[in-house]
Amino acid sequence: MELPRTSLLTTAAAAAAAIVLRKHDADARQAAERMAAAALEALLNAIDANDADTGAHVRRVATYSLIIADEAGLSIPEQASVERIALFHDIGKIHEALFDIIHDDKVLSPDDRRAIATHPARGAEVLAPLDGFYPELAQGVLSHHEHWNGTGYPQRLKGRRIPIAARIVSIADSFDAITHHRRYRAGRPVEAARDIILAGRATQFDPELVDLFTFPPVFARIAAAERQVAKWQTPIHQRREGRDEQNVPEISFRWRPGRRGSRGRPASDQPRKKER
Ligand SMILES: [Fe+2]
Repeated sequence: MELPRTSLLTTAAAAAAAIVLRKHDADARQAAERMAAAALEALLNAIDANDADTGAHVRRVATYSLIIADEAGLSIPEQASVERIALFHDIGKIHEALFDIIHDDKVLSPDDRRAIATHPARGAEVLAPLDGFYPELAQGVLSHHEHWNGTGYPQRLKGRRIPIAARIVSIADSFDAITHHRRYRAGRPVEAARDIILAGRATQFDPELVDLFTFPPVFARIAAAERQVAKWQTPIHQRREGRDEQNVPEISFRWRPGRRGSRGRPASDQPRKKER
C-alpha cells in the first residue's frame, strides 16, 4: 500500500531526527568517556608526581597483568578494566598518612604495617567518584590484597568472591615486588618469583591463575616482559644517575577512548616512551 506524501515526509523526518539524536548520544557518550579517561590520566600523573617509583611499579604491574588477562582469554573491555585496576592499585599510598612510612628507610613497626594495610581502602575512597564511569575500579583496587583462602585484607574475601581483576593484579604485584630491586634488597630472578607464586597457589593466589601464570609459554611472555621493564628507569633514578632521557614506559592505556588520548596523542598497543 502506498503511503500518503505527508506520511512519507513525517516518517523521513522522524528517521532523520532519530539519526541526529543517536549521533548526539554517541557524541555525548564519547565526550564523557574522554573526560573520564582524562581524569584517570591526571590521577596517574599525580602518582608520578608524588612518587616516581610507585609510578614505574604500577606500570610494570599493569604490563604483567595485561599478559595474564590476555592469556586468561578475557575480553578487551575486561582487559582494560584489569589495566585500570593495575595502574591504580596503589593509589591509596599517596595518602599523607602513609607517605612518611612508605618513604622511610627504617624497618616497619607493627603500627606501620597496620597503617600501610589501609592503602586499598584509601585507594578505593580516592577512586569512588569514578564509580559511575568505572564501576569495577574501586572494588578491584580495594581487593588487591585479598587472598584466595580468605586470609587477606581488608574484607577477607575468599575465592571467586575476589574480583578476577584483583586476583590477576595480586599475582602481577607479587611478581614485581620479588623481581624488582627495592631500597632495602636486590631484585630476585624471575624463576625465584615463579616458585614463590607457585608456593602461594590456592592459599594466597587463585590456583587456576597460578597454573596459567606458571605455564611455560605464558611464563616465557612474562619473563620476556620483565627483561624489557628491567631496563626501565624511573625519573628519580635517572636524576640520581645524571641521565637525561626519560624512559619510564607508558603502556598501552587501553582505557583511552577511541584513537586519541586526553592529550591528543594517538593511543598505541605498544609500550612507548613517556612524553613529558
Ligand atoms: Fe598494594
